[in-house]
Amino acid sequence: MPSAPVVLETIAAVRGAVAAARAAGRTIALVPTMGALHDGHLAHVTRVRAADPGAFVVVSVFVNPLQFGAGEDFERYPRTLDDDAAKLATVGADAIFAPSVAEMYPDGGALVRVSAGAVGGTFEGAARPGHFDGALTVVAKLLHIVGPDVATFGRKDAQQLWLVSRMVRDLDFPVRIEEIEIVREPDGLAMSSRNRYLSTTERAAALALSRSLAAAEAQAGAGAGAVLAATQAVLAAEPGVEPGYVAVVDASTFTPAPEGFRGPVIALVAARVGATRLIDNARFRLG
Ligand code: PAF
Repeated sequence: MPSAPVVLETIAAVRGAVAAARAAGRTIALVPTMGALHDGHLAHVTRVRAADPGAFVVVSVFVNPLQFGAGEDFERYPRTLDDDAAKLATVGADAIFAPSVAEMYPDGGALVRVSAGAVGGTFEGAARPGHFDGALTVVAKLLHIVGPDVATFGRKDAQQLWLVSRMVRDLDFPVRIEEIEIVREPDGLAMSSRNRYLSTTERAAALALSRSLAAAEAQAGAGAGAVLAATQAVLAAEPGVEPGYVAVVDASTFTPAPEGFRGPVIALVAARVGATRLIDNARFRLG
């Protein structure tokens, strides 16, 4: 049984622990999270641990106010550090970096922020203005603080993953981004910390998202328009779901795939189920 991870609350403490691990010849892995951990998060730790058993694995747990808009769920976002630490002990994380908001933003916020550019204003970024500037800003800070060799990001947040990868490339962060596959419940629901907001009825309705993506993929040979229509039809047939956006994007540019496009795409869905906004996606080839 792996030992419990040490909880570090300050930038100085995590930098000290990382420096000691580096001095001992260990590589450093960072798994950024906002806590409320589920098996999807634990898969990140398992993956980096399997690839490099000697790595020093830091999991950051920080609910980042910069990426929440007015009226979103920043205040009620679940904060479950003891439970998170117990789960991380089962997969062998070495340290949890759990700073306070004051530790991360001693001046009350970040005056200078990373801009997520044009892609940052589409899909999730259009629905949540400023979200990706806030997410990239905290990811940049975490990468500077921890200085990992590898950092993991989940495919569930496909646009965030694309933008983080692009930030790392455009701004020359010396880190390798490891993509982690979506982890699903046995009935197909993509794991998310926000699933705990769903009532039993809402949870059943939420299955329409993964069903719509299965319908999308079944039309992969028929082109972008057919994929979109199939996705929308499944969502429209579920009365408990209020669709947000549905899109098929070129996986390399994260812009809509035109009719006739052939190559890797990501089908994206966002929907409101009750008061909860959920997103999901599927990767396949068109044509
Ligand atoms: O994906 C998340 O949980 C967050 O957006 C991240 C990457 C930890 C930044 O706050």
